[in-house]
Amino acid sequence: MLQYDFNQLIDRYHTASEKWDGVEEVFGESDLLPLWVADMDFRSPVPVIEAIKQRAEHGIFGYTLRPESYYEAIIQWTQKRHHWSIQREWICFSPGIVPALSFIVQHFSKPGDKVLIQPPVYAPFAQVVTRHGRELVTNPLQYTYGRYQMDFADLQQKLDHGVRLLILCSPHNPVGRVWTKEELTRLGEMCLERNVLVVSDEIHCDLVYKGYTHTPFGAISEDFAQNTIICTSPSKTFNLAGLHTSNIIIPNPRLRQIFKKAIEDHYLQFTNTFGVLATESAYRYGESWLDQCLEYVSKNLEFLIQYLEKHIPEIQVVKPEGTYLVWLDCRNLGMDAKTLHQLLLKQAKVALSEGSTFGQEGEGFVRINIACPRSILREGLQRIETAIKNCR
Ligand SMILES: Cc1ncc(COP(=O)(O)O)c(C=O)c1O
Repeated sequence: MLQYDFNQLIDRYHTASEKWDGVEEVFGESDLLPLWVADMDFRSPVPVIEAIKQRAEHGIFGYTLRPESYYEAIIQWTQKRHHWSIQREWICFSPGIVPALSFIVQHFSKPGDKVLIQPPVYAPFAQVVTRHGRELVTNPLQYTYGRYQMDFADLQQKLDHGVRLLILCSPHNPVGRVWTKEELTRLGEMCLERNVLVVSDEIHCDLVYKGYTHTPFGAISEDFAQNTIICTSPSKTFNLAGLHTSNIIIPNPRLRQIFKKAIEDHYLQFTNTFGVLATESAYRYGESWLDQCLEYVSKNLEFLIQYLEKHIPEIQVVKPEGTYLVWLDCRNLGMDAKTLHQLLLKQAKVALSEGSTFGQEGEGFVRINIACPRSILREGLQRIETAIKNCR
């Protein structure tokens, strides 16, 4: 079996990388160590790179179909990794999950309708709701004893007031929860009873730490399957975000027809030659890379926890159950959000995702991306430690 070296430092500058080359434009500072955008500083699995190289050698990049073998690869992966048997016709294409969420909001709700999200959560969830003139309803997660939970009493009350759509983040970015089957069942039943469509963004579903299991929302029951749109993708799993190819799984034929029409009305059904190829080869041949990657990232997580405990105990790790994104509780530093932000940028020279960008519930927190060589993570933590010591 091919062994991967995730310690390898790969220079990503001048590759038009949003994470590395886009830092200055976003943060207004140069020479920041980028630990923000949710992609990895690791090369994708060798079979994916080889498949792309071989295809590139062919030299003709005309209009491309999605072959049957592409669908088979998605079906087999979902069965093998998530024990969910999906059908070929359920799989719809979108050039990304955020565009899919945007279409879903537009086509499964009307202006003024209520759409519910559970902050602190991935920022585009709120954006796709408000951008299209829908009313944003929040069911904030509760943070108690270092763990986030859903607030079901609040959820029930909010759903009772005419919510049309619920956008679920499962596993959850940024708090790292891998929702249990019981939690999802409770949420799903509440939605079924009130005729609320559940859009389950499962982009992080393959990135789950040992001891936790991701439950696809649509796998829980036939009723749930008929009342959901599930969004998955190889992009986070295999570091393919730049190829813009995602899988929107819709078992319900009526919902599927509406979604497909929305995509077709914008002529977005066409495929990126490399995206389709990479998806298929990653799902077919990328499993051992993923297992090794998860092992490495979980060691990074241990390293992060130990480093902070020893050197910056005021920062507490909200221990993730999945995702390579870690939510850090910085409130014991006793700084307001602006001071913390300035300290990280100007003194520590690190680019992290500011907590409040995930909703006001995230104030006092930051999100760090640990899918990088350990030396980069160490450097980032050392910079933060020094900056904090210097400001005391
Ligand atoms: C929960 C979630 N959904 C969607 C995305 C982005 O999806 P895409 O690049 O396919 O639009 C991200 C990226 O971080 C994410 O965390």
